[in-house]
Amino acid sequence: MKHTVVLTAAFPAVARQLLAGEFDVIEHPTEHGRDEDDMIAILAEADAAITLLSDPLTRRVLASNPHLRIVANFAVGYNNVDVDAARELGITVTNTPGVLTEATADLTLALILATTRRIVEGDAEIRATGRCEWEPLKLLGLSLQGRRLGIIGMGRIGTAVATRARAFGMEIVGVRRGEPLDELLETSDVISLHLPLNATTRHIIDAAALSRMKTGAVLINTSRGPLADEAALCDALERGHLSGAGLDVYEDEPEVNPRLLAMSNVVLLPHIGSATIEARTAMATIAATEVLRFLRGEKPRHAVV
Ligand code: GLV
Repeated sequence: MKHTVVLTAAFPAVARQLLAGEFDVIEHPTEHGRDEDDMIAILAEADAAITLLSDPLTRRVLASNPHLRIVANFAVGYNNVDVDAARELGITVTNTPGVLTEATADLTLALILATTRRIVEGDAEIRATGRCEWEPLKLLGLSLQGRRLGIIGMGRIGTAVATRARAFGMEIVGVRRGEPLDELLETSDVISLHLPLNATTRHIIDAAALSRMKTGAVLINTSRGPLADEAALCDALERGHLSGAGLDVYEDEPEVNPRLLAMSNVVLLPHIGSATIEARTAMATIAATEVLRFLRGEKPRHAVV
């Protein structure tokens, strides 16, 4: 009997193309804010699934279908998966590392530049007025040359951000997972987060960490929203302690805190760090290949469980 592979969203076509020859493929439209019951219904027929980073793969969901053997999460992060439950239930979980490093690092630099040079405010002004008026004091920002960039998480993506930032003349202070943050927090002009989300890293940027940041510093987050306490971040921005923030991720996606929406010194993107044609195609190829290998009895290459 053919195995059934469920695609929980509309992924790049290569995923279906790689799988459709050998397996029954059920493709669901992309949906946001799914709950456990939605997931249980979607995965009911699955021997294997390619899943979204927003799909809640809790113990209850994973246990609901005894035929489910592999979940290939279409992301490098897998904080949406209860990995302990997967391990206990004998379900393999894979991710898509490596292929989105450069795209995410590019977007991080885009956010650093957009916040420090007030790109979005400038665009909004032109659209509102239909005019381009040069003024000596208009939209003054910060120069990156000689400023210090603190990178929290010097893994693949953090290191790729450092390479780019050095080309802009920034001085880098980087910490790896678990290393002390004190010097980085107190001396950086821009701080960028590049950590996976787990119990240790949740709210690593809390009110106390924010209060140690330099007055006028900027926070960039292209990793996972809950790394920062968003309410405390809004307080720090509203007080003027931070001069800006560039965010691609939010604490309660798909919701975005209305306090952030009200601030013009915050640049907000809809979680598009890996959204290049190249990266997304490569991610789909990896996820589908993992499923293919697994269902053929071969070892997946990127198993996290
Ligand atoms: C995107 O956020 C990812 O984890 O790949």
